[in-house]
Amino acid sequence: MYRWAILLFVSFQSWGLSLDDSLDVAISAFQLKGNVCDKSSPPDPNNLSSLGKIFFERPILSGDKDISCANCHIDNKALADGLPLAVGVGGIGEDKERLISGGAVVPRNAFTLFARADERYTTFFWDGKVQMADNEIYSPIGEGYSMGFESALSVAAILPLLSRDEFLGHSNGPYNSNSHVELLENQYFNDKVKAQNKFLQDLLKDTNDADIRILVQALNNAEIAKQNFTLSVVGNALASFIREKVKVTCEPSNWEQYINGDKRALTEKQKEGALVFYGKGRCAACHSGDLLSDMNFHSVGVPQGTQGPHMFGQDLGRALVTYRTEDRYKFKTPSLISVSKTAPYGHNGIFPSLESVVKYHINPMFFYRNPKVTDEMILKNNESLASRSEVLRWIKIDEEELVSLLKFLETL
Ligand code: HEC
Ligand code: HEC
Repeated sequence: MYRWAILLFVSFQSWGLSLDDSLDVAISAFQLKGNVCDKSSPPDPNNLSSLGKIFFERPILSGDKDISCANCHIDNKALADGLPLAVGVGGIGEDKERLISGGAVVPRNAFTLFARADERYTTFFWDGKVQMADNEIYSPIGEGYSMGFESALSVAAILPLLSRDEFLGHSNGPYNSNSHVELLENQYFNDKVKAQNKFLQDLLKDTNDADIRILVQALNNAEIAKQNFTLSVVGNALASFIREKVKVTCEPSNWEQYINGDKRALTEKQKEGALVFYGKGRCAACHSGDLLSDMNFHSVGVPQGTQGPHMFGQDLGRALVTYRTEDRYKFKTPSLISVSKTAPYGHNGIFPSLESVVKYHINPMFFYRNPKVTDEMILKNNESLASRSEVLRWIKIDEEELVSLLKFLETL
């Protein structure tokens, strides 16, 4: 559908309309509502958000009590971490300090959490391993609703808790262990949930720990009996907290203000960039709708790094979930909400700037002309490059259009 909108729009542009008039056509062709930062949404009905705050900010759910969500989804980094690849258990501090701290590397670039509680946000993680479709929540631990999770976000929010490098620990040497790792490591699918539920029950017994006493108090306040304290409660509470946090801290972006009628919210250059985005740049063929993602999977042929979730250090993307050859190197179209604040870019954080990631969509060759790129790296990217979406071949924009496009991305 969006491809038709682009064709229609590219031909409209040649009618000699003003920038604002052309953009009005784009806004209606792409059915943009400008309502991502929605301050008026109803407060969370079960009032679980203060419980979720405890899980988000305190390291109580990690095997070695050394990590919480807030270590990687950081307030002053637009709820991402600013690193190419995230650093999990055993990591210390932020930024460079964390990179060199010897913590376990999580081989993907962290997402911001803005807009994740929006009901149009249906596909989570770079490979879409949690996805809402046909009123079911597909996930590696089974169907979400049937286990008491209230949304795809609440399932996505607990998956890090089940992963060794993000929460379970231990990072100092591959064979080190703790009781939490031992409890979960050998379990598969929803048996992991049962094991984690046991961990949660045991946790409540540790009343010498001040954080646990705060947790017990919060469970009382939310009128949740101890024996009902399960992983789905944690997920629903985290989802409530994320929804509230984003609602309180979001500001309507300049683009959102523009969609809502404030024609001065964008500069002339940014308006020109918006026209490129919705027109000949064809960005909106994939980065569509108000969330700037079609919630679908495509290959941009992003260079493989040296670390990936596959056993050969590669990242096969969507194929890790579907096991289909044609899905190799496809990744979820990332939402571009707040994108100028979430560098570095790409599923493995290989692009330091917006300019480099956008250029790579258009013509990847500049990347390989860098003297630091070895023949071996080029060979390794053979398959990934060959899988590039054919839509990308039709993006033909000049230097000046690229400059205005980048200015537009700053307004999102
Ligand atoms: C070690 C750093 C780290 C920690 C700790 C962490 N995350 Fe993340 N988060 C990431 C990375 C990296 C990704 C992307 C992973 C992927 O797509 O495979 C991510 C993705 C997500 C997503 C999916 C977003 C999207 O748009 O698809 C959600 C939701 C999320 N994290 C919530 C949480 C919550 C809640 C916690 C705490 C329970 C948490 N994270 C802890 C690094 C971290
Ligand atoms: C064929 C679908 C498609 C088209 C067309 C497309 N993109 Fe993308 N874009 C993606 C996918 C998929 C990724 C993630 C690729 C990866 O990391 O492997 C991405 C990544 C990005 C990122 C990095 C975001 C982040 O958080 O890491 C930016 C910025 C971006 N695209 C902007 C653009 C712009 C600007 C255009 C138009 C010139 C465009 N895209 C056209 C699918 C597309």
